[in-house]
Amino acid sequence: MKKSIGLLLFYLFFSFTAILYAQSISWTEIESGIWKGVIGQPEKFDLLKVAGVQSYHAGLEQMPKAGFPLIQQEITGLVKGGKTYLRFPLEKNEQLFGFGLNFQSVFQRGKVLTLHVDNYGGKDNGRTHAPIPFYVSTKGYGIFINSARYITVYAGTAVSLNSKSVPDIKDRNMDKSWSSHPYSDAVEILVPAAGVEIYIFAGPTTLNAVSRYNLLNGGGCLPPRWGLGFTQRMQRLTNAQGVVNEAKSFEEKGYPLDFIGLEPGWQSKSYPCTFEWDNTRFPDPIGLVQEMLKKNIRINLWTNPYLSPQAPIYKSLLPYSGSHTVWNGIVTDISIPESRKIFFGALEKGKIDIGISGYKIDEVDGGDDFLWPDVANFPSGHDAEQMRQTYGLMMQRYTSEIYHQRNQRTFGLVRASNGGGASFPYVIYNDYYNHQDFITALSNSGFGGVLWTPEVRSSKTAEEWLRRFQSNVFSPMAMINAWTNGTKPWSFPEVADQVKTMANLRMQMMPYWYSEFAKYHFRGIPPFRSMYLEDGFTIASTITENGRVNLEENPYEEARTKEVKDQYMAGEYLLVAPLFTGQISRNVILPIGKWYDFYTGIYVGDGEVISTTPGLDKIPVYVKDGGIIPMMPVMLHAPKAGQKIDLEIRYYGDKPGNYSLYDDDGETYDYEKGIYSFRQILVKIINGKLQGSIAPAPIGKPDNIGNVTYKKMTNY
Ligand code: GAL
Repeated sequence: MKKSIGLLLFYLFFSFTAILYAQSISWTEIESGIWKGVIGQPEKFDLLKVAGVQSYHAGLEQMPKAGFPLIQQEITGLVKGGKTYLRFPLEKNEQLFGFGLNFQSVFQRGKVLTLHVDNYGGKDNGRTHAPIPFYVSTKGYGIFINSARYITVYAGTAVSLNSKSVPDIKDRNMDKSWSSHPYSDAVEILVPAAGVEIYIFAGPTTLNAVSRYNLLNGGGCLPPRWGLGFTQRMQRLTNAQGVVNEAKSFEEKGYPLDFIGLEPGWQSKSYPCTFEWDNTRFPDPIGLVQEMLKKNIRINLWTNPYLSPQAPIYKSLLPYSGSHTVWNGIVTDISIPESRKIFFGALEKGKIDIGISGYKIDEVDGGDDFLWPDVANFPSGHDAEQMRQTYGLMMQRYTSEIYHQRNQRTFGLVRASNGGGASFPYVIYNDYYNHQDFITALSNSGFGGVLWTPEVRSSKTAEEWLRRFQSNVFSPMAMINAWTNGTKPWSFPEVADQVKTMANLRMQMMPYWYSEFAKYHFRGIPPFRSMYLEDGFTIASTITENGRVNLEENPYEEARTKEVKDQYMAGEYLLVAPLFTGQISRNVILPIGKWYDFYTGIYVGDGEVISTTPGLDKIPVYVKDGGIIPMMPVMLHAPKAGQKIDLEIRYYGDKPGNYSLYDDDGETYDYEKGIYSFRQILVKIINGKLQGSIAPAPIGKPDNIGNVTYKKMTNY
């Protein structure tokens, strides 16, 4: 009797919980392969609205058609006590990626994360520079939670009573297979708000889901050509003469340079900031900017947003500031249009309007002990948490809008971003400076529509300098961040030539980098991304009878079970496998398909694990069969608008090659009016001879391509 009452109570409880979670969400397809669901009363101040996102409809229309990627009834939600509880199904063998810019892990299944904008503190716990509430699955779908709140994610850890696959109950006393982490079949998410918008992205591939997310964000950013050249950041208290001298030494020594960054000392006061030039160090900013522009070098300015009482705009912004200061500076509530006029007006006047090419927006991430606290309040009524999650996003949006209005592209740096920011021309950086983890971050950046630079700033040895420099060359922004110690590319004479060769290679590859960024913008494909987004990298497991995997038969099992985070894809065709200080050789997992050495064109393998000992001078890079890499001559600065450039088209392997080469003026937003072209390059081998062609520039479109030659890299 007792037993049956117990059973009855259990069932009552079970159905009650089932009811609690039974609230299914209705879905509307808002773009091809993207569904929006609403639960409760979503807040008005959400990530997509703050970012001012407008989807790139034409790009989404070109994506493969796909149906809703999950069983709709299995996605449930509940709004209770001012909070939203969400549950998404998870299958066995499914791996998850994303949840923002993580530095140590690529696999996210099994994590508990609180997504919170912060300075990265050494742990992948959700506190990072871009804690994007977006994840993708190996099953080929993506999920975005459009909330500017600190969201808690149980990524396959929580076990609910009404799970579809309830884990076996085991006796810890006797059963060795007992686990402290019973199987979980869901991603559960807690949003501290009484409603939220959810977006589901179809595949069919994981990369397709990422692309759809980026295209919903308006497409990835397209930097100006010069943004893909080198940048050197000056020491903190450099003056105008220091800038001129720096540019001169780069030129004399023959190292490429496209933009120089000024650190806090350009401002009359900093921490808190004035947004005004220091007229002792920089008596004639207009003259300096002009002089540098004549040398094809642009200037970028560091700033943080916290304003000093000595800033001319301080008084007018005081009524719009938050209740707490940061380093004794006021925190302007830039979610208010009137305050933005004054605040961004000061960043434009005497800076952008005299030719400053962009900003480095510092300190909009954290940490908690110096940023505004969560008890702060802001005149707009948005609370401290919402401001924390979005300040970096707003800074990016409103600075880039100034450039957009001037029809001039920018490419800057920022320390915090969030969901919705893929189209902003900013690269995230920090001071953490761990080479291995920087590469993991580079892999992860591609899951969430952000860019990350594995910058170089200092090194203990020449080996470390060169190894870091090599990774920097294969990244979104080739940055030498010498703000603290003034390190130059040639600072380690033992490797100065090798560094120059690498820097030149970056410049030669500019037509490739530029085209790959165009694919980020127009097709949503991240230019730098994890191996797990690559076809032929993850395949179904082959587990032998004794439950062990046969790594000889199936090298991919290693990739499925052990995270691969030390190699990544750069553009359509390249696989980059950096070496770290002290390493002489390393393993590289090649996806299925034939792969070739980037430097020699020699065949290296197909769907296997290879070992390489490249020597100090080389970073291992491999090219997919049929790969086409368009190269230009070595130049010290990016080509200017309208400058014709000769191309050498390198071709690898023997599969017919096909490449979309992008071209436009490289500086303005005219591409938004259709003033650009993708030109088809076709290469094949006939009787051992290479036959190549490039489509002419369509009439009325830019044509910056001079003489074209072809180079067969692989000789059989
Ligand atoms: C740090 C930033 C550095 C540098 C420095 C200047 O917050 O990460 O790159 O700009 O401030 O004070």
